[in-house]
Amino acid sequence: MSQSTIKIAPSILSADFSILGQEVRAIDEAGADYIHIDVMDGHFVPNLTFGAPVVKSLRRHSQKIFDVHLMISPVDPLIQDFVDAGADIITAHVEAGPHLHRTLQNIKSKGVKAGVSLNPHTPVSAISHVMDMVDLVLVMTVNPGFGGQSFIPLLDKITDIRKMINEQGRPIDLQVDGGVNVQTAQQVIQAGADVLVAGTAIFKEGPEQYAKNIAALRG
Ligand code: DX5
Ligand code: ZN
Repeated sequence: MSQSTIKIAPSILSADFSILGQEVRAIDEAGADYIHIDVMDGHFVPNLTFGAPVVKSLRRHSQKIFDVHLMISPVDPLIQDFVDAGADIITAHVEAGPHLHRTLQNIKSKGVKAGVSLNPHTPVSAISHVMDMVDLVLVMTVNPGFGGQSFIPLLDKITDIRKMINEQGRPIDLQVDGGVNVQTAQQVIQAGADVLVAGTAIFKEGPEQYAKNIAALRG
């Protein structure tokens, strides 16, 4: 994977929530490719963040791709709200419910891109029968719910999914989320990832450092 094709998706989970619009503008101007938006429900994951109204209010602050990572269960009743809020990509978890295929159909039927995410313990085989439907695969390299956790080195898993994507013969993002920093970024890029999500590594030192931190992750 050449470095120039690597996309960086700052996770606003690590931003200052009291000035979220300003933070989104800052990462946009600092060179973010996607704005990664972590939606948590206190049920599927042990933390709460925000819902579609917040996403809608952020939409006017950036024209970049809004990459909405739904850590909620059930997913389907809220898909329309996130589409209306301006999501460009909606990613649902394999583990969020029994009808992943239906959820992906629902997302795609709204005219936005559909992503599927796997928790660290979930085998690659869980997505083999939906590969023809997805625009993005998100490999979690921490247990979802919190920023600032240590990277779980699931490099074989990333490589296996890279092979599955290449077999599809059409563009599908391979996104890695959790514990991505300058060191682990190189490992996941080597393994085949092309979209890196990072919260702590980008937001850690305040807005003056965002551009430097984003550039550093590209290698
Ligand atoms: C975790 C979220 C991540 C998180 C990553 O559940 O999905 O997007 O913000 O944070 P860092 O980069 O700090 O591990
Ligand atoms: Zn995320």
